[in-house]
Amino acid sequence: MSDKPVLTTRQGHPVHNNQQQRTVGSRGPATLENYHFLEKISHFDRERIPERVVHARGFVAHGEFEAYGTIGDEPASTYTRAKLFQTKGKKTPLTIRFSTVIGGRDSSEAARDPRGFAVKFRTEDGNWDVVGNNLQVFFIRDAIKFPDVIHSLKPDPVTFRQEPNRIFDFMSNTPESMHMITWLFSPYGIPKNYRTMRGSGVNTYRFVNAQGEGVLVKFHWLTQQGEHNLTQEQADAVQATELGHASKDLYEAIERGDFPKWELNVQIMSDDEHPELDFDPLDDTKIWPRERFPYLPVGMMTLNRNVTDHHNENEQAAFGTGVLIDGIDFSDDKMLVGRTFSYSDTQRYRVGPNYLQLPINRPREDVVVSTNQGGGQMSYGVDNRGANPHINFEPSGVAGLSEADESYREYRPFVSGQIMRAPIERQNNYKQAGETYRGFEDWERDELISNFVTLLGQCEKAIQEKMVWHFSQCDDDYGRRVADGLGLDYSALRA
Ligand code: HEM
Repeated sequence: MSDKPVLTTRQGHPVHNNQQQRTVGSRGPATLENYHFLEKISHFDRERIPERVVHARGFVAHGEFEAYGTIGDEPASTYTRAKLFQTKGKKTPLTIRFSTVIGGRDSSEAARDPRGFAVKFRTEDGNWDVVGNNLQVFFIRDAIKFPDVIHSLKPDPVTFRQEPNRIFDFMSNTPESMHMITWLFSPYGIPKNYRTMRGSGVNTYRFVNAQGEGVLVKFHWLTQQGEHNLTQEQADAVQATELGHASKDLYEAIERGDFPKWELNVQIMSDDEHPELDFDPLDDTKIWPRERFPYLPVGMMTLNRNVTDHHNENEQAAFGTGVLIDGIDFSDDKMLVGRTFSYSDTQRYRVGPNYLQLPINRPREDVVVSTNQGGGQMSYGVDNRGANPHINFEPSGVAGLSEADESYREYRPFVSGQIMRAPIERQNNYKQAGETYRGFEDWERDELISNFVTLLGQCEKAIQEKMVWHFSQCDDDYGRRVADGLGLDYSALRA
């Protein structure tokens, strides 16, 4: 007798023979009543769920966040009543998913691509997700353009190749993308691995305190492992032998007890339009200058546990910008509003309508989920309905659930205006891109130029010229160097 557990079917029936189907004689034909075989093969046929439409390749780890109790020099309560920040040393469990954006589920982790940095805090007030990237800005500032920017970056619908001509056709007609692509085609577009990159929430949120006062806030994760990126040549060497080097690096570090850390910092601004700035604070193609809006440390994240199952904890994990807790609210950022619809919409399709019942997505054990929602495919838990399970509606004079007290009253910003479709006023598409270009080290600028020359070299001349013109608006040296690399007459283009 073996001491291994006995193999069963999903019905719990012990399986005596897992090597052969039931057949008529040893050569067949096979019989159809073979339940064990049918269960095994039909479950296998359904092993995959649709991969994420973006950020398909990712890797998950678990850990904790330890609060400093302060935000910069102030008690955390000055800015937000969110409970996880209030007390020095308070620990909140969390889950993080790092990812690339464009490639499929098994694609290279050394690709030039933004990296996803999605954190799910499991707080006493329920889950809070910060769904960010390693880069601090984004390609577009209006959610209606998201399918277009992603289509341009994804493989061609006919050839199924990622085509530079399609990418730069879109970017050259989207001037607000210049800042993002200046970062993306520099070495920051290929972080050395997940442990050595930073993260940013990119979009703007609001902190709300116990007095009901709000401030605008941006979230940043600063790696404690040192920030390191790869040149294109180094990345090519990595992906020649290993497509999953970043997942491997993170998994192995956690297995050997070398737990990576990131410090959470916030930038804060008063909650108004800030006419004194030359950009709109809600424009996600802009960085809030650090000199003016300093990074204020809030706490430290440590990753200390690997997943036990990739499918359950990664493929079925669902992060979203709408998953906020009391004390953290939406801003009027119109990208953020669009994102907030998109995440849970795709998750109801990709994972299923009861995705929030799954262990990876539901709140932590001591948070009692009390709703009157029920049913739907794959429902297995029943939420708490109070003392009387017959009452699945609210209000009820008999039993049921009650609303939370006044301390949970939502922030109530005043909004008035004409409904329209219009771009924002302070676009300033080139200035910060130029500053970013000039801020790079020499080797980083050399890489940026070389990457653009290589890829634009595969594009039509009209697209090359348009891109050079945009670069010239960011910085004269930037435009000139790309033009020279492409053999274009810069002074004619600049005129
Ligand atoms: C309007 C713009 C955007 C839309 C409509 C959008 C939509 C989506 C969708 C549909 C997914 C797949 C989610 C899933 O299947 O679970 C996703 C994933 C993701 N997005 Fe966005 N996105 C937008 C912009 C951004 C921006 C600006 C960032 C960075 C700050 C970002 C970061 C991420 C990350 C990190 C993931 C992966 C989450 C995970 O690991 O499961 N997205 N996005």
